[in-house]
Amino acid sequence: MCGIVGYVGAKPAAPILVDGLARLEYRGYDSAGVAVLGPSEIRLHRDAVRVRELEASLPKRFGGKVGIGHTRWATHGVPSQRNAHPQLSADGRVAVVHNGIIDNAAQLRAELTADGVELSSDTDTEVLAHLISRARTSNGSLEDAVLATLDRIEGTYGLAVLDQAHPDRIVVARNGSPIIIGIGDREMHVASDTAALVRYTRQVVHLDDGELATLRADGYQTFTRNARTTKTAVTVDWDASDYGTDGHEHFMHKEIAEQPDAVRRVLKGRLDERFHTVRLGGLEMDARELREFRRVKILGCGSAYYAGQAGAQFIEEVARIPADAEPASEFRYRNPVIEKDTLYVAVSQSGETYDTLVAVQELKRKGGRVIGLVNAVGSSIARECDGGVYLHAGPEVAVASTKALTNMLVGFALLGLHLGRIRDVSPADGRRLITALQALPEQIEAILDGEPHLAAVAKELAQAPSLFFVGRTRGFPVAREGAQKLKEISYRHAEAYQTSELKHGPLALVGPELPTVAIVPDDELLDRNLGALQEITARSGPLVVVTHDGVDLGVVAGQVITVPKSEPELDPLLLTIPLQLLAYHAALTLGHDVDKPRNLAKSVTVE
Ligand code: F6R
Repeated sequence: MCGIVGYVGAKPAAPILVDGLARLEYRGYDSAGVAVLGPSEIRLHRDAVRVRELEASLPKRFGGKVGIGHTRWATHGVPSQRNAHPQLSADGRVAVVHNGIIDNAAQLRAELTADGVELSSDTDTEVLAHLISRARTSNGSLEDAVLATLDRIEGTYGLAVLDQAHPDRIVVARNGSPIIIGIGDREMHVASDTAALVRYTRQVVHLDDGELATLRADGYQTFTRNARTTKTAVTVDWDASDYGTDGHEHFMHKEIAEQPDAVRRVLKGRLDERFHTVRLGGLEMDARELREFRRVKILGCGSAYYAGQAGAQFIEEVARIPADAEPASEFRYRNPVIEKDTLYVAVSQSGETYDTLVAVQELKRKGGRVIGLVNAVGSSIARECDGGVYLHAGPEVAVASTKALTNMLVGFALLGLHLGRIRDVSPADGRRLITALQALPEQIEAILDGEPHLAAVAKELAQAPSLFFVGRTRGFPVAREGAQKLKEISYRHAEAYQTSELKHGPLALVGPELPTVAIVPDDELLDRNLGALQEITARSGPLVVVTHDGVDLGVVAGQVITVPKSEPELDPLLLTIPLQLLAYHAALTLGHDVDKPRNLAKSVTVE
């Protein structure tokens, strides 16, 4: 979603703000802007442009050692200069950047207009600037004005405020949208994501919902409406070099290539070869507690939800506990029954996805036990959960998730094996799965070596305006994820079905114009899958079959992509990898901005 940055210190603020925005651009990129405190006025520069263009067009006189910046993903108001942040108060003395959505903005806008304020944008954020400005009294503090304004706001926010009358500080506040303070050497930073901070400091403080902070060059103070709060800084284990493309043309390509190492990291220290089991200390639950769970319910959004579907299948198959996955965005609205003997699992790369976070909060309010499978250490979801498994994929910058999704699948395998070994899974089965997990990095490397072939297949697929992705059981979440990836970055229509469902309707569309990408693992359903694919071949439907090395496809004709054989329970993992490269090369063929697909943003921190 949108990105926020802020700086207060002794250096010129603008270059630091722009650098931070460039690192956050993956969170929203339809407009960008910065504001700095000049000697007698707030200097503002913003436009409906990418951060690099904003930087190139910065006015010469843009000095100031305190400033805020924003990169936007439009929610209220089209992308335009007037709707870009920072938004200014009518007197030009207060500037605000804001992530989130103010639900009662229409009402507040009407009140301000009736009061004679001329609104200059279509955003909900603008009302914050006016209200803060109007709440200021001649000798009152900026903090009081912000608190008074927040009392009138319904909705979510992560915000940062500059006030000409208080040139030594930035005030920030959080409710539902992340705000992270970076502690520098006689300077303070703030951002909505650690990506913007790690170049300057790795000591960070996460605000909680309902918290505010005042940042000055020499320190910070956090508080709520009623009291000061005390925070402990944590050290971020990613550094600035993790946010470069490392010679790759795109972040997505770099992140696909990083998968063997990412998998090594998530496995590191967690496999117990002596007892053929798994060590997951972060769960904060001992074997006795874990044995009491009778069900597992996994919650996530988008690709994380598809990873959850594959994870649920693994857990059910291996640990023999009924398990299913549901989009977190739907879960909280259907007033679900929360069961004490269900283990809830929230899965998220960013740890900031609003729908998933609120589902976790709802679960906890109702007494549910929730663990997280989360990539971003210290993120909101990670902190909200009772315990969990960090995914250690490293920062993921491309909007389309690749390495984090792969590590989610590994994370579920670890969880499933752990749950299984404290129940009925035999040491032999534990050993079998551990050996298979250890083999994954090299197997992924072998798949990545096939990139030229995948690029050639993708080139052909990119010509089709519409495609099917099909798979069964373990192959179905793979098909869903493959369709999702292609849609996201190539803008081709792609729909996923269970292969077995084709004949119940979708087959009507199959013909020479509609290719099908079929996931066909070498498993107990191989013959049935091949039977269904023959029906496609018989209707001249072009086929791309993603299968295991050595599988005989018989009369089924089409392009073939193979992956090395693993243990069947782990099939989704390796079968997903070629689909990432298919989507990547299809998007390249079509000339799209692979890392920043239209209308999307990394980390959806609004509802
Ligand atoms: C797809 C993609 C999204 C995310 C979803 C959840 O490539 O990246 O569908 O998976 O928005 O995000 P996280 O995992 O950060 O909660």
